[in-house]
Amino acid sequence: MSPVPPTAFPEAALLLAALRLQCDWGADEALAELPLDRLAAPPPQAAPEPPPEPPSDPRPAPARRAPSAPAASPAPPSLLPMAPPVLGATALAAAADTLEALREAIRRIDTPLRDTATNLVFADGNPASGLMLIGEAPGAEEDRLGRPFVGQSGQLLDRMLASIGLDRQAEAPERSFYITNILPWRPPGNRTPTDAEIALFLPVVLRHIALVRPRRVVMLGGTAAKALLRAREGITRLRGRWRDLPPEAGGVPALPSLHPAYLLRNPAAKREAWADLLMLRRALDGAGPLADGVAEPGITE
Ligand code: URA
Repeated sequence: MSPVPPTAFPEAALLLAALRLQCDWGADEALAELPLDRLAAPPPQAAPEPPPEPPSDPRPAPARRAPSAPAASPAPPSLLPMAPPVLGATALAAAADTLEALREAIRRIDTPLRDTATNLVFADGNPASGLMLIGEAPGAEEDRLGRPFVGQSGQLLDRMLASIGLDRQAEAPERSFYITNILPWRPPGNRTPTDAEIALFLPVVLRHIALVRPRRVVMLGGTAAKALLRAREGITRLRGRWRDLPPEAGGVPALPSLHPAYLLRNPAAKREAWADLLMLRRALDGAGPLADGVAEPGITE
């Protein structure tokens, strides 16, 4: 089916997205000759036959009881008012036509993470900047403040990006960036996201990228890189080379790089991170006008 067309009626968009999902799952394919009504009441059970009389008894056989009338079949299900459709993450994300709508769609995605987290962590920075960074999942500080990358690793990341002239607070789009995560909710105890959690939110992230339409994406760490590139290799193998994101995300060139939390634990790896930052800077320079003020090389803790 072709993509759901934008519509002025959000409920209609949701229903269209749900219909599209049903079609993707094969609801329009015939599996048998005759239709099967799975909601019909079950057929009435036949009453059990009484046991046969013992043959040796000389007395006249008592009259056999007439078999009891079959139990009245249950009343047909009443016509209930139509419940609102229960939409999955893919349908909810597909129906979101704006970033605000996507943020609200995320709140409707059913996951236990929603119950354990304090705040939804959607994104930060300037979506018009042309550069989108994608990390793994919020930590404790991010959960508390509802903003991505504001804890220790986020502060290191801000310093790294400042060294190539980028600042998420900058007003000028060419000096700023936009940042989000694969998971919008903090996993309890900062545990690593499960494969199921990543799979649940991947359509949301792809939709997020499609709505922002960045010119470049940077994937911070193995979770983001492997999920978005559908790769099996670890981040140390993936990093440092531009790849194209899947078509659902607009096929944008994306650079896998090391996660700042990893750099905090392994300061020697900052050398590779710096090489990636220079690649990013060069790509941004080639992709459009840039502001002055690129700092001297070097990432400080
Ligand atoms: N690590 C991440 O991947 N994302 C955050 O927002 C914070 C830490």
